[in-house]
Amino acid sequence: MNIEAKRDEVIERLTHSGGRGVLRFLTCGSVDDGKSTLIGRLLYDSKLLFEDQLNVLERDSRKHGTAGDEIDFALLLDGLEAEREQGITIDVAYRFFATEKRKFVVADTPGHEQYTRNMATGASTADVAVILIDARKGVLVQTLRHTYIARMMGIRHIVLAVNKMDLADNSRGRFHEIVAEYLKSAESLGFESITPIPMSARFGDNVTRRSDAMNWHTGPTLLEYLEDLDLDTELRNEPFRMPVQWVNRPNLNFRGYSGMIVSGKVSVGDAIVVAQSGLAANVSRIVTADGDLETAGAGDAVTLVLNQEIDISRGDVLASAEQRPEVSDQFAAEILWMANDDLLPGRSYLLKIGTATTPATITTLKHRVDINTYEKQPSRKLEMNGIGFCNVSTARPIAFDPFREVRDTGSFILIDRFTNQTVGGGMIEFGLRRASNIHTQAMDVSKERRSQIKGQKPTLLWFTGLSGAGKSTVANIVERKLAEAGLHTYSLDGDNVRHGLNRDLGFTDEDRVENIRRIGEVGKLFVDAGLLVTCSFISPFRSERRMVRELVDDGEFVEVFVDTPLDVCMERDVKGLYKKAQAGEIKNFTGLDSPYEEPEAPEIRLDTSKLSAEEAADQVIAHLRERGRLG
Ligand code: ADX
Repeated sequence: MNIEAKRDEVIERLTHSGGRGVLRFLTCGSVDDGKSTLIGRLLYDSKLLFEDQLNVLERDSRKHGTAGDEIDFALLLDGLEAEREQGITIDVAYRFFATEKRKFVVADTPGHEQYTRNMATGASTADVAVILIDARKGVLVQTLRHTYIARMMGIRHIVLAVNKMDLADNSRGRFHEIVAEYLKSAESLGFESITPIPMSARFGDNVTRRSDAMNWHTGPTLLEYLEDLDLDTELRNEPFRMPVQWVNRPNLNFRGYSGMIVSGKVSVGDAIVVAQSGLAANVSRIVTADGDLETAGAGDAVTLVLNQEIDISRGDVLASAEQRPEVSDQFAAEILWMANDDLLPGRSYLLKIGTATTPATITTLKHRVDINTYEKQPSRKLEMNGIGFCNVSTARPIAFDPFREVRDTGSFILIDRFTNQTVGGGMIEFGLRRASNIHTQAMDVSKERRSQIKGQKPTLLWFTGLSGAGKSTVANIVERKLAEAGLHTYSLDGDNVRHGLNRDLGFTDEDRVENIRRIGEVGKLFVDAGLLVTCSFISPFRSERRMVRELVDDGEFVEVFVDTPLDVCMERDVKGLYKKAQAGEIKNFTGLDSPYEEPEAPEIRLDTSKLSAEEAADQVIAHLRERGRLG
């Protein structure tokens, strides 16, 4: 068969499913465990390789193989790997194959410790995780780690593939020993099913055909298991959920809501609600690319037309009226951290759940989990690959389900607000009701009224810069001049606040984040009181300065960068701290062994090498006057 014909056959088989829908699975393990061989065997036996690849393979394995006359399937994957290196850079390799019964997508992720992120990516769409174990080595630390991530990413079914049984005398005893040890840890994670299969991928034993050498195994082969696993019923029995991707309004006569049904099913006539607002309607049409449907279910991309107009926009979740998701701006979640920079409680990230995105912070890190032992440990931050139980607070209420009930509406990702990179993944455990019982008390005297009486526009003057830059000095003169002009002021200062409100905080990154968060909240209260507030804090991170900016209204935050070079600050060394830091007596000192991120677009930059403190203060006041903040 020529390559084109073969390719056509592949495409034909992949686009026309067999009896069951597509099954997505993930293989976890290292090359040493036989992962490449296993995937190669599945691809080969399903006869979906291009002829030329097979020829090369047979030739190569005779040359370099380690499997005698048998084809060395690891070589096959190495070949594919090389293909992959020719340009496409993806962290996860997806391979497709099909049998008469079903189509498969297998995600192959590197087994190395640093690749948590890849594995999480592959696992997030997978239905089954095949956890590979070398029968000679048994359960390893990485086995438990992969299992935990699989569980976190919502995989319900595990195949424990005990491979290389031929090298363990095909011993039933050894197999049971490994299974028992694995179950001791994995059983507590609450998978729907764990199916152990003894195999020898190199020879195909119990992969695609039954093994004579292990005739004591009465369970399925791997392929039988994968072909027969029923997922559709599972998903369709969950409550109906559809995050709205867009409002489809081509003309005045048609309005539909488009998106992918992520769980459950919906029929014409069904009562649905918008989770966030509680507004209700009935489904009058289910429109798809292939015409209208009576019923659609999980995995279908549809446009729903309703019997009446209600307010719905992108990010809303349409849900079954009888089984509604929770709506809250606070919840407890388990978070897997994937970025080089630590997760810091108090910092603002973007949280994306379904089609909705909102700013969010981790308010409390309750504990972290040792991914290798499943042990809980106290911690103030989460490092790369760390897993933690956290309370999360979102800027707007979101609709969600507990993750164990609905995977898609129960999981979210966290995005860095500056780099736009995905930095974490999270699973919602439960909503925290305490937030929803606190209402904002309406006050008769408003911020506007308070500032009117004072004849000024409340403003947070935020001085940032290195220690010794002159922040407090300039801020002090600014306040004095404002007070002399009869204006109403207050000042918050790093050293002073650290004697009281923030006496429990030191100078680690996580403590600095919390320092600024609290000061931001206090500053906001003073702004609400109608005051002109000077704040002098190193505030070394852009994230937190931006967070404070967003706490108050437009125009109320004025960032003043006191731009004094490090060498000048060190030379001045008014408090003698640089000397101590250089002598190693103080750790995490800003500018030395702790970073300072300069403001990119401050409202005011004070070049203190050219300006006296007095002149600098005048510049700040001139800015306030120009902006009409001084009445
Ligand atoms: S911030 O980084 O969290 O914004 P903040 O402005 O409150 O810092 O406190 C800075 C002051 O604490 C400095 O001016 C200095 O007097 C003192 N200090 C003590 N240790 C350190 C340190 N390791 N790094 C920076 N400042 C320190």
